[in-house]
Amino acid sequence: MNLCTRLNEYVRACFTGIWIESHEHHDALTEIAGLCRDQQWQLATWDIETGLTIPGQSETDNVSSDPLAAIRAINTLATPDGTAVLVLQNFHRFMQSAEIVQALSRQIIAGKQNRTIVVVLSPVVQIPTELEKMFVVIEHDLPSREQLAEIARGIAVEADELPEGPELETVLDAAVGLTRMEAENAFSLSLVREDRITADAVWEIKTQTLKKSGLLSLHRGTEDFSSLGGLSALKAFCKRAMLHPSRGNPLKRPRGVLLLSPPGCGKSQFCKLLGNEVGRPVLTLEVGSLMGSLVGQSEERTRQALRVIDAMAPCVAMIDEVEKAFAGLNGNGDSGVSSRMFGQFLSWLNDHESDVFVVCTANDVSKLPPEFGRSERFDGIFFLDLPSREEKDAIWNLYLDLFEIDRDQRLPNDTNWTGAEVKACCRLSALLDVPLLQAAQNVVPVAVTSAESVERLRSWANGRCLSANEPGIYRGPGDLPKSKSRRRVSRDPSHN
Ligand SMILES: Nc1ncnc2c1ncn2[C@@H]1O[C@H](COP(=O)(O)OP(=O)(O)OP(=O)(O)O)[C@@H](O)[C@H]1O
Ligand SMILES: [Mg+2]
Repeated sequence: MNLCTRLNEYVRACFTGIWIESHEHHDALTEIAGLCRDQQWQLATWDIETGLTIPGQSETDNVSSDPLAAIRAINTLATPDGTAVLVLQNFHRFMQSAEIVQALSRQIIAGKQNRTIVVVLSPVVQIPTELEKMFVVIEHDLPSREQLAEIARGIAVEADELPEGPELETVLDAAVGLTRMEAENAFSLSLVREDRITADAVWEIKTQTLKKSGLLSLHRGTEDFSSLGGLSALKAFCKRAMLHPSRGNPLKRPRGVLLLSPPGCGKSQFCKLLGNEVGRPVLTLEVGSLMGSLVGQSEERTRQALRVIDAMAPCVAMIDEVEKAFAGLNGNGDSGVSSRMFGQFLSWLNDHESDVFVVCTANDVSKLPPEFGRSERFDGIFFLDLPSREEKDAIWNLYLDLFEIDRDQRLPNDTNWTGAEVKACCRLSALLDVPLLQAAQNVVPVAVTSAESVERLRSWANGRCLSANEPGIYRGPGDLPKSKSRRRVSRDPSHN
């Protein structure tokens, strides 16, 4: 349902306090004005700069930048058998004042008698407690694909400027999640640069927009699974689930996976590569930056971020280190903000209907509430154990090639090393120009520094998680053979 349909319903049902959450006031106002014209409702708008404007009356008569006067003015618009709508732009800014809150409260009640409707138009929903029960909230949806295509057609007027068919679809894939104005800007930039609307310029604008909002970051890389050794069961599972031909059927839509492992086993890297592998953008929810300093702000920002994720479907959404992200879940020290945000996130995980594949990663399950991993929230909970001998060989192969390291040398003893440690050893060897054996002296495996937590995680995962390394359920650490430092790695990479 779009903005007008909802607004029409609420006004006809005489809801006298309506809060419209929108980043695009100009577009929202155009839609509201159209609706008021059709329904023959009297419309007035107010903002701090131009004051009160009543369409059809000369502006100078009405200019008043006093927000209290604006609220009171609505009664002068009331008619015995008509409806009057007053739109207050960015009025959340004035709601800290006790007089304003009181005046609004009185007006919303009085409006029931003379059919005067107060509409607050604001990019955020910050309703003071006193007024909470008096407002209904309408979200001004981000533009749909059809609307975006319409915008593109409006800008690309010359022949060949607008792509067609699958190419147009990739442009629209890139543009979903942008506001109307951002989409217009992105399309125009593309025309200036390349005389044609292309997905690249649109992605660039979208990456910037997300960065600015501080809610999400966008990753679009070029690397695929071949740059990650091992993890064959996990790779196969995700690719199969996401590239299955029945993806269009909402019942068969994959939901996502939860990844557990000791640090450095490739969880974060896996998420990033997954996007490119299945042709979707990867959005990272930055939970830390969702925390706001004002009451209710964090919850509001979480809601906004989840809305953008929904709008960007099909995509991969990653919440890295989820147990730390929502730290303070037991409500200590932050008046329960994290647990409310976590609750919002859990409900979204259950209810979202968009084609979003969620990947959560964690190092410590004991900090996660048990309901998090219950079945149906995720398609699978995977445990990424320290890599096996074969996997480590594949990882060595990758990094010896990447860092152009002489293969004619002995490899260090890599017992209980993670992928990150193999990489660190190769990087150090290349950086310091020393043999691998010497570089390895600077590598302290996590299995040694946090042996207990690795053991705890393994025993928790035993029988509870799927193995990322081989098909089936994870059954404790296999025999990780003690490696000999004289071993050399064959050139044939058996990874992927
Ligand atoms: N199996 C692997 N193959 C290739 N590289 C790997 C592998 N495992 C880890 N790495 C490398 O190690 C580094 C760290 O990996 P990553 O950040 O994905 O680990 P993580 O499991 O997310 O760790 P943390 O729990 O600390 O966040 C990355 O640069 C990654 O490329
Ligand atoms: Mg990580």
